[in-house]
Amino acid sequence: MPSSHADLVVVANRLPVEETTEGTGDDARTTWTRSPGGLVTALAPIMQRTGGTWVGWPGKAGLELDPFTADRIDVHPVALTRQEVKRYYEGFSNATIWPLYHDVIVDPEYHRDWWTSYVQVNTKFAEAAAEAAPKGALVWVQDYQLQLVPRLLRQLRPDLRIGYFHHIPFPPVELFGQLPWRADIVNGLLGADLVGFQRTGDASNFLRAVRRFTEFSTRGSVATIKRRGRPDRYVRAERFPIAIDSAAFEDLAARPEVEKRALEIREELGSPDVLLLGVDRLDYTKGIRHRIKAYGELLADGKLRPPGTTFVQVASPSREHVEEYAELRRQVEVTVGRINGDYSALGRPAIHYLHHSYPAEEMAAMYRAADVMLVTALRDGMNLVAKEYVAARADLDGVLVLSEFTGAADELTQALLVNPHDIEGLKRTILAAIDMPHAERRRRMRAMRKRVMDHDVASWAKMFLDALATTPRTDV
Ligand code: F6P
Repeated sequence: MPSSHADLVVVANRLPVEETTEGTGDDARTTWTRSPGGLVTALAPIMQRTGGTWVGWPGKAGLELDPFTADRIDVHPVALTRQEVKRYYEGFSNATIWPLYHDVIVDPEYHRDWWTSYVQVNTKFAEAAAEAAPKGALVWVQDYQLQLVPRLLRQLRPDLRIGYFHHIPFPPVELFGQLPWRADIVNGLLGADLVGFQRTGDASNFLRAVRRFTEFSTRGSVATIKRRGRPDRYVRAERFPIAIDSAAFEDLAARPEVEKRALEIREELGSPDVLLLGVDRLDYTKGIRHRIKAYGELLADGKLRPPGTTFVQVASPSREHVEEYAELRRQVEVTVGRINGDYSALGRPAIHYLHHSYPAEEMAAMYRAADVMLVTALRDGMNLVAKEYVAARADLDGVLVLSEFTGAADELTQALLVNPHDIEGLKRTILAAIDMPHAERRRRMRAMRKRVMDHDVASWAKMFLDALATTPRTDV
């Protein structure tokens, strides 16, 4: 098996590069710089080393671009019209699949015109990948926006080896069965040779969906695809939990300027005794409201007292054109306003709510500054913030409160695990985290760090690609 993975084609909703403009007026110059984010960090070095193409949407409606090279990666842009962004991205991907796959925390909407657009856009991506892929290449399709691509691509290019990785949960059949196009989705994914999931439970849910909604059978982690009643191909569905660039994050957090910034942050917050931190995309899956509710009740009960204790919630803007996200923002901001009205002192808010994104250096400094990290997602494929917090704490200090409904909870078993729906339990756990003895904090953080530092995103990508390259296709 070639460990170099020559001729790799990655197909993802977004490109690995972002357009940035330097200068103004006549001097303005547009360049493409690498996007932040785990997937790009993992795959960029592989593609830079061996060559490879990344097929994706440049992130702006109507932007049509010829293929180009940026950051030593060949980029193959797929243009989306304004209507496709509305129906395929905001609609079917983020208002049908996203809520359905996250335990229907909000109601998924089923619209036939969104589905039609999803099929059309998936076809565009498959055609672009078919054009970009050299003969016999490995193609790695990413995530829930592109679940039809494996099958569409196989029809166009049977010579390719196709992998798919699902970054979000795959729901139980009792929920998945709501989807009017459930069989098309399962058959779409079965176009791959290897389908990767975050957790074993996601892979079993998928294999159950195969048995329930297609004529194919499964044995262990393998589905047998039949043609005219005879076995034709095999598809493996397995767990490949995603990770972060742990060493790079640890190094970043240990830089003197980041450590200095961590001290400054505490000073700017009025040198509290206890600093609680939440860091999320502003998404209803993240349990931000549950966390704020628990904190507000602890203030009301007099168990926590600002400004001695303070809470920083970073909520980075996300999918703002989708109604449920706009509604969540209103709810969070009203609740934060109410708690701050009741419990803040002049210049010392009880909750510091920051609706921004920050560079990695600032995030690393916040992680170093925080005594307790609150990850209370109601459902999350993995949750990389939890892993970043652990990677940042080479000082072995800090306590992670982690929802049992995250993929990360399978690995970070030394965190204080919580059910975020149980507000009393969440309150007790926050207090236990604050009061945890120093020796216990160190013991738990050391164990979690072993896991995070030993399993990084480069080994995740290598494991998936090695498995894809060696997956038997026609004979198990
Ligand atoms: O959690 C799934 C995910 O695709 C992440 O990988 C990514 O950070 C996030 O959603 C971004 O979503 P969008 O592309 O819709 O902004």
